[in-house]
Amino acid sequence: MYRSHHNGALRLANVNQEVALSGWVQKIRDKGFMIWIDLRDRYGITQLVLDAERTDKALLEKAKNLGREFVVQVKGKVIERVSKNDKIPTGDIEVLVSELIVLNKSKLPPFTIEDNTDGGDELRMQYRYLDIRRKPVRENLIFRSKVTMEVRNYLSKEGFIDVETPYLIKSTPEGARDFVVPSRMNEGQFYALPQSPQTFKQLLMVGGMDKYFQIVKCFRDEDLRADRQPEFTQIDCEMAFVEQEDILNAFEGLTRHLLKEIKGVKVDKFPRMTYKEAVETYGTDKPDIRFDMKFGELNDLAQNKGFRVFDSVELVVGIAVPGCGHYSRKQTDKLIDFVKRPQVGANGLVWVKYNEDGSFKSSVDKFYSQEDLAQWAERLHAKKGDLLLILAGDADKTRIQLGVLRMHLAETLGLRNPQEFAPLWVVDFPLLEWDEDTKRYHAMHHPFTAPKPEDMHLLDSEPGKVRANAYDMVLNGNEIGGGSIRIFDKETQSRMFDLLGFTKEEAQAQFGFLMNAFEYGAPPHGGLAFGLDRLVAILGGQETIRDFIAFPKNNSGRDVMIDAPASISKEQLEELNLVVTLPKKDK
Ligand code: AMO
Repeated sequence: MYRSHHNGALRLANVNQEVALSGWVQKIRDKGFMIWIDLRDRYGITQLVLDAERTDKALLEKAKNLGREFVVQVKGKVIERVSKNDKIPTGDIEVLVSELIVLNKSKLPPFTIEDNTDGGDELRMQYRYLDIRRKPVRENLIFRSKVTMEVRNYLSKEGFIDVETPYLIKSTPEGARDFVVPSRMNEGQFYALPQSPQTFKQLLMVGGMDKYFQIVKCFRDEDLRADRQPEFTQIDCEMAFVEQEDILNAFEGLTRHLLKEIKGVKVDKFPRMTYKEAVETYGTDKPDIRFDMKFGELNDLAQNKGFRVFDSVELVVGIAVPGCGHYSRKQTDKLIDFVKRPQVGANGLVWVKYNEDGSFKSSVDKFYSQEDLAQWAERLHAKKGDLLLILAGDADKTRIQLGVLRMHLAETLGLRNPQEFAPLWVVDFPLLEWDEDTKRYHAMHHPFTAPKPEDMHLLDSEPGKVRANAYDMVLNGNEIGGGSIRIFDKETQSRMFDLLGFTKEEAQAQFGFLMNAFEYGAPPHGGLAFGLDRLVAILGGQETIRDFIAFPKNNSGRDVMIDAPASISKEQLEELNLVVTLPKKDK
């Protein structure tokens, strides 16, 4: 028996018991005549003690030769500590060691295995198995497991059936590039790894499964960010005989349940906002509504007053930043620099300080009277002491820029409290998105999304104006899930492919299987997928999903621990028909 207790278990009540413990040596304090060892496992840390008085000499010597991260087994008696440590649950006791077995040695780890480590990101990724021994990483993985279990239990109780779908498939267009896998048995042909199980879950609805879910890996070859990994996990769901309202209620229920069970946070009905409203009020389709700073449009108040910069533009729009009316020149200049950065791309920024005495001071005092500025302040719902910030330009771009500035300010002002949760639904997304590069429409969600019936008449004349029965769940400024009601008849689906620029042959070759299935009694259906990594990270109070994935990829999409991707041998390439071997005479 390696152990009678875990290293987080022993308390004063265990004093005088003989116990066996196993774990890793976290720290050794050797005072010569006395040695303390912190023994660690998943459950905690227990202090071991050996001293010249109570321990035999050979054993003391053995303990002196231990190194950090050695794996040991000890036996001994639980005793009360003289100086207690109230920072850990086992801090009242220690174990007086009578037997010590070294189960395995360890090389000196490349960084300290403590809550605050001296290891940089790349080094910790390379030795991820050591990083996982650290409490913060370990706790994140345990937290993820807890969320996943809760999701499974909830959905299963609600009658959802967990069905696995294949990983070696044909490409599903969801906007990103596919990872492809060459087929050995089918020369010159490739599988694609699923960007999501989208078409399969729809086929499961045709198959009568009625309520499906799967916690499933998805693969997308896209540029990485803090909230994106090339392989990530979805909680993928689909339901038959449902309308949008049924889906929103079902998954709002799941999210509410998770917030309550995992975070102890009770949330009422989630607010809903149309895509248009979100973009016009927050400059983004994933607004963080934990704080205000709503946009106010100022065209009617700010144009034609002699300030040429504003006169010629499509949109003048601003926000009121709470309590920042005292900002110095240096601080406002910094904000101007921020919006002018190429990543933001604004030409400039107008500021107005709403002084405590009710007067205004602005960067455009030459053009606007105190009364003008008072009207702006009213439009932006500003209070005395606030700072008004105004951007102008092309409507779409300016809204995005102001949205970025709003988030930047919220971050610097500490308005993004990670322990506060503000979920909402964003609904009525446009069906299509015009792509300037390819000069054609793309499906904003995916090509299987149903247009709103009331907008169907616009499909031929003004396709860009058609709204979809598509929705996103947004939590604290992050898109944590998205879905739609699907097209379920062949004609509409085929029309959709026409709109997206597919020829009939291309559509048939790529999606014939789905359209054929629609001819055999497909029920109305719809669904959604949560990004599990994002959901877990946000519930955990963070936004970097990498910290909640056991073996993540770095920013270049590499696994630096196993060193992947890597080249493969010539033999493998040949077997996969990926090298053309020329006959000898042609060489
Ligand atoms: P969508 O593409 O919106 O929808 O994806 C659903 C959710 O998955 C998460 N997500 C990601 N998480 C981490 N890394 C990524 N690279 C990544 N890409 C997406 C997001 C997103 O909201 N089949 C549809 C769903 C449906 O219509 O039912 C789909 O995949 O949180």
